Amino acid sequence: MSLSRITIGSFRNISSASLNPSDGLNLIYGQNGSGKTSILEAIYFLGMGRSFRSHLSQRVINNDDDKLTLFANLIQDENDCKIGLRRHRNGEIEVKINGEKVKRLSTLAETLPIQVITPESFSLLFEGPKARRQFIDWGAFHSDPHFYQAWVNVRKVLKQRNQLLRNHSPYSQIQFWDKELVRYAEQVTDIRNRYVDSLNELLKGIIERFLPQVDIKVSFTRGWDSKTDFSQLLENQYSRDVAAGNTGSGPHKADLRLRVGNLPVQDALSRGQLKLLVCALRIAQGKLLKQQLNKNSIYLVDDLPSELDAQHRQLLLQQLTETGAQIFVTAIDPLAIVDSLSRPPDRMFHVEQGLVTVIE
Ligand SMILES: Nc1ncnc2c1ncn2[C@@H]1O[C@H](COP(=O)(O)OP(=O)(O)O)[C@@H](O)[C@H]1O
Ligand SMILES: [Mg+2]
Repeated sequence: MSLSRITIGSFRNISSASLNPSDGLNLIYGQNGSGKTSILEAIYFLGMGRSFRSHLSQRVINNDDDKLTLFANLIQDENDCKIGLRRHRNGEIEVKINGEKVKRLSTLAETLPIQVITPESFSLLFEGPKARRQFIDWGAFHSDPHFYQAWVNVRKVLKQRNQLLRNHSPYSQIQFWDKELVRYAEQVTDIRNRYVDSLNELLKGIIERFLPQVDIKVSFTRGWDSKTDFSQLLENQYSRDVAAGNTGSGPHKADLRLRVGNLPVQDALSRGQLKLLVCALRIAQGKLLKQQLNKNSIYLVDDLPSELDAQHRQLLLQQLTETGAQIFVTAIDPLAIVDSLSRPPDRMFHVEQGLVTVIE
C-alpha cells in the first residue's frame, strides 16, 4: 500500500502543494521552518483525522484560510483508492473515500495505517501510560476487527459508572454497570494481550539488530492485578472509587512494561538507545500488520538524523527499507540521509517557505 499522489491545501505554511511520491523511500529536505514536518503532519492528518503535533486541529489550518483540504491517491493491491478530507475552522470535518462520505474517522485509520517516528516519540517511554496504551491499541485495532467496538463500549460504561460514583450512588446501582464493564474489559484485554504476544515475537529480532547485548523484556499489564477477579475487585474498591470519583482499576489503566533486567528501560538505556527502541517498536508494529493482514503501513520519520549517529541512522534506514513499506523521511541536510544509504533515495523533495519541488 502506498500513496501515489498527495495534494495539500492550506495546511500550516503550505498554501498548496502536490507530490507524487515513490512507493519506496522519499526524502524531504529543507531549512528549519520550511514546512517539512508539516508535510508529514498532513499525511498523518489524512490517515487519522488529527495531528501528531497539536491537539487543536484548527492550529494546522493555514492562518489565511478557514479550512484545510487534503487529498490522496492510495494504491492498494493494484486497486486505486481516493481519499479526501476537509477540515473547517469551526470543527466541521468531511471525509470521503472514493467519493463516498465516511462517518467514522476509524474508517480512515483502517484504510491508511500510519506509523510516525519523530523526535517527540520518546514520550512513548518517558510519559505516563497513555501513549503506550495508544501504541498497543493501534495494533489491537488493526489486528482485530472486534477491538474498536469493545473499546468504545468500555469507555461508555466507564463514563456511566464514574457518573454514578460521583453521585454517591449505592453499589447496588453500580453493580449492573460492573457486569457490563467486566464483559467488555475481558474482550479488550484478550485482544491486547494477544497482540502484545505476537508483537514480542517480531520485536526480539529487531531489537537484537538495533541493541545487541541488551536484554529487553516487553510485557503487557492489563490495568488490574491479573490474579484478582475483576468483578470482585470492582466491588472491593467501591468506597475508594466513590471517594476518588472515578474507577481506579480496569482496562483504561493498561500499560506496556519495558525493562532491562529489573530496571525500567528509561533508567537502563542511553537516549540514543531509547530512540532506537522506539524505532524498533514502531517497525515491529508495521511488520506485524504486514504479516497478519498483508497490509503495509506508511512510515513518517521526522528529523531522522537528530540524536542518531551515522551507524545507527544506517541501521534504521536499512530496517525501514527492508519492510518494503512506503517511507517519508525529513532532514535539514539531505546528505545526512543520502550518506547513510546503500543506494540513493527513490525520490527527493525540496521544501522552501511552504513550496515543494521534486528534485529530478
Ligand atoms: N497555521 C499556520 N499557518 C501558517 N503558517 C504556520 C501555521 N502553523 C505553523 N506555521 C509555520 O509553518 C512553518 C513550517 O513549520 P514546520 O513544518 O515545522 O517546518 P520544518 O519541519 O521544515 O522545520 C513554520 O515557520 C511555522 O511558523
Ligand atoms: Mg520539523
